[in-house]
Amino acid sequence: MPRRDLRDREDLELLLQAFYQELLQDEEMHAIFHEVAGIDMAAHLPRIADFWEQVLWHTGAYAGNPMDVHLELHRAWPLRAELFHRWLDTFTRVGRALFEGPTLETAIERAHSIARIMQMKINNLDRLRKELNN
Ligand code: HEM
Repeated sequence: MPRRDLRDREDLELLLQAFYQELLQDEEMHAIFHEVAGIDMAAHLPRIADFWEQVLWHTGAYAGNPMDVHLELHRAWPLRAELFHRWLDTFTRVGRALFEGPTLETAIERAHSIARIMQMKINNLDRLRKELNN
């Protein structure tokens, strides 16, 4: 079947289901989601789909603060650059295996820019903590 672009919520759910299934094959990612954050994926997925709906189509579905969530997570389990790499690589690979088109590419670009901002905030936090300890 030829691939087509991401069109709606149902497409997002399909993509996210496949993405997290693949991501959680990784032992460390699995530990972070299940042991550190204690996440129930069934509850997590609709929230993540709300987030992506908001990012791509400005539906107002998501109210939250992913930056704070990941800063908090980083205090419990350091989110190294390599982990962000793995996350982005999986998102890009799974996304392009299922869909094709400008909306998918926008999602991939947004994921990269959000990850960049998360890492900047994480690095700033680490720097500040180091300075305070000195
Ligand atoms: C090192 C890479 C990453 C890891 C290990 C990771 C892991 C997690 C975990 C464990 C949670 C659940 C936290 C909780 O509810 O306590 C979460 C939530 C979330 N993540 Fe990530 N994440 C990563 C990168 C990203 C990136 C790049 C994005 C952006 C596209 C993203 C978007 C989200 C969103 C929207 C939530 C839900 C926040 C909320 O509950 O409002 N994550 N992530």
